[in-house]
Amino acid sequence: MLRSLLSLFLCFSAIFPLLNVSSLAADVITCSGTVPMRYRNDNISITDFGAVGDGVTVNTKAFQKAIDQIQRLRRSGGTLLYIPPGVYLTGTFNLTSSMTLYLARGAVIRATQDTLTWPLIAPLPSYGRGRELPGGRYMSFIHGDGLHDVIITGENGTIDGQGDVWWNMWKQKTLQFTRPNLIEFMNSRDIIISNTTFLNSPFWNIHPVYCSNVVVRYVTILAPADAPNTDGIDPDSSSNVCIEDSYIATGDDLVAVKSGWDEYGIAYGRPSSNITIRRVNGSSPYAGIAIGSEASGGVENVLAENMNLYNMGIGIHVKSNIGRGGFIQNIKVSDVYMENVQKGLKMSGNVGDHPDDKFDPNALTVVKEITIRNIVGVKVLQPGLIEGLKSSPFTDICLSKINLHGVEGPQTPWKCSDVSGAALEVSPAPCAELTSTHQTGTCSIGH
Ligand SMILES: *[C@@H]1O[C@H](CO)[C@@H](O)[C@H](O)[C@H]1NC(C)=O
Ligand SMILES: *[C@@H]1O[C@H](CO)[C@@H](O)[C@H](O)[C@H]1NC(C)=O
Ligand SMILES: *[C@@H]1O[C@H](CO)[C@@H](O)[C@H](O)[C@H]1NC(C)=O
Ligand SMILES: *[C@@H]1O[C@H](CO)[C@@H](O)[C@H](O)[C@H]1NC(C)=O
Ligand SMILES: *[C@@H]1O[C@H](CO)[C@@H](O)[C@H](O)[C@H]1NC(C)=O
Ligand SMILES: *[C@@H]1O[C@H](CO)[C@@H](O)[C@H](O)[C@H]1NC(C)=O
Repeated sequence: MLRSLLSLFLCFSAIFPLLNVSSLAADVITCSGTVPMRYRNDNISITDFGAVGDGVTVNTKAFQKAIDQIQRLRRSGGTLLYIPPGVYLTGTFNLTSSMTLYLARGAVIRATQDTLTWPLIAPLPSYGRGRELPGGRYMSFIHGDGLHDVIITGENGTIDGQGDVWWNMWKQKTLQFTRPNLIEFMNSRDIIISNTTFLNSPFWNIHPVYCSNVVVRYVTILAPADAPNTDGIDPDSSSNVCIEDSYIATGDDLVAVKSGWDEYGIAYGRPSSNITIRRVNGSSPYAGIAIGSEASGGVENVLAENMNLYNMGIGIHVKSNIGRGGFIQNIKVSDVYMENVQKGLKMSGNVGDHPDDKFDPNALTVVKEITIRNIVGVKVLQPGLIEGLKSSPFTDICLSKINLHGVEGPQTPWKCSDVSGAALEVSPAPCAELTSTHQTGTCSIGH
């Protein structure tokens, strides 16, 4: 009986390798070690500051007053700012340290569409200018700079960016500066974002930059597939970031690990490291997991596992550019199921796009030690496309147990250049540069 159950299970896991095998294990690994959850004794409600959740009243002053008070009184153990059910329209606001922004079930914090009053802030030093346009950039809807111990959580309330007005300005080319992120933390540590839905961000959704110890879990991030640049979560020059148990369906990369670009990112020199991404599902016309192309400060020690990706442009995308410098190394991606994707795996050394023409054409990204294993894809148009640079080939690329099936009819074959490494049990067979039937160096079937 036990044996037949076991073989039934094995048979099932061969067909559906990601039917959460880990849930059978006694302990599911989670992010809770990265930043422990804190509970606050002090609880104030946004309505005590005059906020009205009618969807019409602009509540910017109420948010500022409430957060000013939290900052001024500095209650020991921090303060919870409670957002009751209702729709709270507001302009941008800054958070403060030792606080929890708690959205009750049915609470919506909604951004005004009054783009003319949106504050401008300085560009990030590792970007030298706004990401999409020269000069400053619009402040994120909810912003935090130099903070510690901040939690955004609740009962699956919603933070709604009402981004269509920004997407339209982008489409009509009437934008003056780089669009605002929905949430940005700069120079901050010990941040938890959980049990919240993020809707229609003007630009990237969640952007921790120059941060450490950041947890994002149990979140839902949604934007239309044609909403430009609505990346889900972008850890940027940040370390010890843990993302798990989330669903992301947007118009750009679901998770993109970055570290500044070209001469600005090289000079700032702050890597993204120790990034864990697990049990994240979603869909997007771009990538599920993206590393780069902003990698000038370096990206290392990334672990992404147990993901389910549907209707994607690219499953896993490692990308850089001439002039970026930096490195992308020790990246491990495993146990990914993908369905209906154009490219299963793409790695590219030169994707174009620069802040200005002052980049050093000799500054090339070192791309090495990329391990990708246990990947199953169905309806994959092209399994893999890997294009290193002649003067900086990708090395130690290890592919194992990869099965990327095509649509009916001919599949576009693998294509590679300027890459070395090994491929074990990869089907369809990859390009000659990677073909290997035995263990080579550190690449093996097991790990
Ligand atoms: C905070 O206080 C409100 C009443 O103002 C209450 O409804 C809510 O349950 C409290 N929330 C938490 C998380 O303590
Ligand atoms: C919010 O933070 C930004 C960036 O740190 C700062 O420029 C701005 O003055 C702050 N706004 C308020 C109202 O404190
Ligand atoms: C949270 O809300 C989103 C958007 O309505 C929904 O898709 C998701 O399933 C909800 N999550 C939970 C755990 O209720
Ligand atoms: C957050 O969501 C998870 C998954 O839905 C749930 O198990 C957990 O109880 C939620 N936490 C809170 C504080 O509601
Ligand atoms: C991801 O998809 C798997 C397989 O369908 C499912 O078991 C899991 O609950 C999903 N997780 C999230 C966070 O959507
Ligand atoms: C990354 O994790 C390793 C191992 O846990 C730790 O030694 C190292 O300090 C971490 N790096 C950063 C930048 O925190």
